[in-house]
Amino acid sequence: MEVLKLFALILLFTSASANVGASNRKHYIVYLGDHSFQDSESVIAANHEMLASVIGSYDGAKDAALHHYTKTFRGFSAMLTTDQVKQLAESDSVVSVFESKTNHIHTTHSWEFLGINNLEQYHQQSMDSTSDIIIGVIDSGVWPESKSFNDYGLGPVPTKFKGECSTGENFTLSNCNRKIVGARFYYKGYIAEYGPLESFNHTFFLSARDSDGHGTHTASTIAGSVVPNVSLYGIGKGTARGGAPRARLAIYKACWFNFCSDADILSAMDDAISDGVDIISMSLGPDPPQSIYFSDAISIGSFHAFQKGVVVSASAGNSFLPKTATNVAPWILTVAASTMDREIQTNIYLGNSQVIKGFSINPTEMVSFYGLVAGSAAAAPGIPSKNASFCKNNTLDPALIKGKIVLCTLEEMLDNRREKATVIQQGGGVGLILVDPLATDIAFQFQLPGTLISLSEAEKLQVYMSSQKNPVARISRTMTTLPIKPAPEMAMFSSMGPNVISPDIIKPDITAPGVNVLAAWSPLATDNTAGRSIDYNIISGTSMSCPHVSALAAIVKSSHPSWGPEAIKSAIMTTATNQDNTKSLIRRHPNGTQTSPFDYGSGHVNPAAAIDPGLIYDFDASDIIDFLCSTGASPAQLKNLTGEIMYCKKTPISSYDLNYPSIGVSNLRGNITVHRTVTYYGEGPAVYKAQVDYPAGVNVTVTPNVLRFGKLGDKMSFRINITAYKTSNGDFVFGALTWTDGVHVVRSPIGLNIISI
Ligand SMILES: *[C@@H]1O[C@H](CO)[C@@H](O)[C@H](O)[C@H]1NC(C)=O
Ligand SMILES: *[C@@H]1O[C@H](CO)[C@@H](O)[C@H](O)[C@H]1NC(C)=O
Ligand SMILES: *[C@@H]1O[C@H](CO)[C@@H](O)[C@H](O)[C@H]1NC(C)=O
Ligand SMILES: *[C@@H]1O[C@H](CO)[C@@H](O)[C@H](O)[C@H]1NC(C)=O
Ligand SMILES: *[C@@H]1O[C@H](CO)[C@@H](O)[C@H](O)[C@H]1NC(C)=O
Ligand SMILES: *[C@@H]1O[C@H](CO)[C@@H](O)[C@H](O)[C@H]1NC(C)=O
Ligand SMILES: *[C@@H]1O[C@H](CO)[C@@H](O)[C@H](O)[C@H]1NC(C)=O
Ligand SMILES: *[C@@H]1O[C@H](CO)[C@@H](O)[C@H](O)[C@H]1NC(C)=O
Ligand SMILES: *[C@@H]1O[C@H](CO)[C@@H](O)[C@H](O)[C@H]1NC(C)=O
Ligand SMILES: *[C@@H]1O[C@H](CO)[C@@H](O)[C@H](O)[C@H]1NC(C)=O
Repeated sequence: MEVLKLFALILLFTSASANVGASNRKHYIVYLGDHSFQDSESVIAANHEMLASVIGSYDGAKDAALHHYTKTFRGFSAMLTTDQVKQLAESDSVVSVFESKTNHIHTTHSWEFLGINNLEQYHQQSMDSTSDIIIGVIDSGVWPESKSFNDYGLGPVPTKFKGECSTGENFTLSNCNRKIVGARFYYKGYIAEYGPLESFNHTFFLSARDSDGHGTHTASTIAGSVVPNVSLYGIGKGTARGGAPRARLAIYKACWFNFCSDADILSAMDDAISDGVDIISMSLGPDPPQSIYFSDAISIGSFHAFQKGVVVSASAGNSFLPKTATNVAPWILTVAASTMDREIQTNIYLGNSQVIKGFSINPTEMVSFYGLVAGSAAAAPGIPSKNASFCKNNTLDPALIKGKIVLCTLEEMLDNRREKATVIQQGGGVGLILVDPLATDIAFQFQLPGTLISLSEAEKLQVYMSSQKNPVARISRTMTTLPIKPAPEMAMFSSMGPNVISPDIIKPDITAPGVNVLAAWSPLATDNTAGRSIDYNIISGTSMSCPHVSALAAIVKSSHPSWGPEAIKSAIMTTATNQDNTKSLIRRHPNGTQTSPFDYGSGHVNPAAAIDPGLIYDFDASDIIDFLCSTGASPAQLKNLTGEIMYCKKTPISSYDLNYPSIGVSNLRGNITVHRTVTYYGEGPAVYKAQVDYPAGVNVTVTPNVLRFGKLGDKMSFRINITAYKTSNGDFVFGALTWTDGVHVVRSPIGLNIISI
């Protein structure tokens, strides 16, 4: 929301500064693949030499180079002209040259703290074993003084960790501890693309210290220590904690003022992988549509992470619509956002005792009733009533709103909500009621009593207002309500599939809580908190669901230290549920509409089950290469991704045969056979039976449909024959394949686009 507004500002800003600089150089990433250099210094020297060959001088090369990727793979980023890019791209040792693009954090809005525990469902798990797990968080840094990062009771930093605690502005070695085991920061890409940090008129620290709040929130959601009795404005009291409260955090700050440069992110990934993290959590991504994997920094960096056994969990984005999910590579765990069974309600009491249900965070109770006026009925002279209904600046008549609660509507989804409250306050009004479809999904915090209501509640309110000569209302203080049924529901904003890059891979993969999530905050980040300095905040976004899944990956990894990223992914996906707490299929906000795996992938996370999934679908880097070959990747493209020379097999596999934990066929003509292999993780012999939930218009047979396992590690392959008897008219149809031994339920959604029979 605001993020998008800010984006417009930044575009203006950078185009202006580009004119001034009279430079046609842009920021590019030069990717050189694997390397055999002894150390970072020799890589940097070689990079400078290569760059000097196109720039003309060694000193010029040193000035132009911004980042050197020296660890997991070789490359650099630099300000270059298109001619220089061309020359470099022609060099034999250069794999590819691509422009560093913009990513933004995947939060929609922010709010304040309530004493609720968002991870209650994880309580039953013993967390001690997670203390060897290190999660790298690529985000806006950390507020190290937060109680959530105390290291009480934690043992020494795991010896496998090779990272460092980089000092910087207001960040010393003492800001790292046994919880925050490492901290680094990256800004060269950002300033090359957007200009000096000082020019943004926002508080910032040239260090890993977080002044945006986002990174503190995501890091503490993953591995915040247990902090009892947190409460704000007395609204709620409870224990704050991360999903894996004994796990360690390595902080990689690559985002500034909600934006992150590809080149900085790639540098952070290079460091994180070589520092020895187990999991990388990235609550950020490009605006949709994302680039193909072969020229996408996040896809390339996370492929290297996958090869090195590091799980990459990333947010799908907050773009509301079908085909907008980002971070969709099969080697990334792509996370959607859904609600919890709690609501944060700020209701409205009307003069006739009726109650209108609203949502926001409102710390103060209105003790008396105030007059109620619609913005449309309070237009300033010369302003059409319709324009005034949006309560934008200089459209309302102060004489008509003074002392009143004003009812406003949105002109567009991206309207700045907080500005409306400020406009009302400046005009002498006392409260804001905003009709907003996002009401339940983002609890806003305003400078004056305010609440958001749905369209249906707005109709009730309008009936009351039109039936009264002097309608009155009062806005209550916020209270939490639970348990809410149905829950979870998909957040309205959560980005959806199908996957625009690899349509045979269902994306997102999974959903987790991402609506009104409580976690630690930077007290200096007051933009979204109506100017209040707070230590914990509640915000929404796939940015908030991603860290839940990162935490779950840490828990699974600690239970199964030998498992690779694909096994952890399989465990999390095949144990997820597509049902809500009323045993119905998960629905989507705001209208309770039907959903599909394109909303939530395999479903909502189920941590207890993910630790003991029974069976695992696995695949390795060479399977990914086969998969990419099946989708038509050329050797040159593969080299762009892996950095190595790669050839496709003579007989390519079918792209739906990647041993993925979900099953997608985007181009089904007649009959096909899909192949999968499962690995048994259990004690002693076991018998698993197949159950198929048929997608409409097909017949499905599984052969064999009974799998008998003798011992841990046994692998069994099976075929899924799909016979279409009705086309699906351009839409996907969905079903599922479930293997069960009576205890474990190993479920894979099936999504088919039936082109012909
Ligand atoms: C940062 O450090 C400076 C200099 O020590 C100090 O004056 C300032 O208060 C510090 N800021 C914060 C937010 O701690
Ligand atoms: C920052 O503030 C200066 C001076 O007030 C102003 O000229 C400039 O436009 C502002 N920049 C941004 C990005 O808002
Ligand atoms: C919780 O905090 C409140 C004030 O924030 C304090 O009055 C109360 O005693 C605390 N309770 C416990 C159990 O620490
Ligand atoms: C009212 O809104 C319309 C549409 O946004 C705009 O074109 C028009 O200029 C506005 N009128 C006034 C008087 O602001
Ligand atoms: C509205 O505009 C006036 C000037 O016309 C300005 O002083 C005020 O700050 C603006 N209010 C908001 C909320 O932007
Ligand atoms: C929800 O329903 C309202 C009223 O019927 C409609 O205007 C709105 O477009 C619907 N929203 C979505 C996302 O379907
Ligand atoms: C490799 O990446 C570069 C930069 O994105 C691109 O120009 C080139 O076309 C890619 N090569 C292939 C074969 O896709
Ligand atoms: C598809 O399967 C059906 C039933 O098994 C069979 O009768 C038919 O011949 C098959 N068609 C093709 C094209 O294989
Ligand atoms: C589906 O397969 C079963 C078993 O082969 C067969 O009896 C049935 O007729 C098939 N249904 C359709 C619609 O093809
Ligand atoms: C499944 O399809 C394969 C060919 O793709 C065929 O050999 C096999 O008999 C089929 N199995 C069933 C149960 O239809």
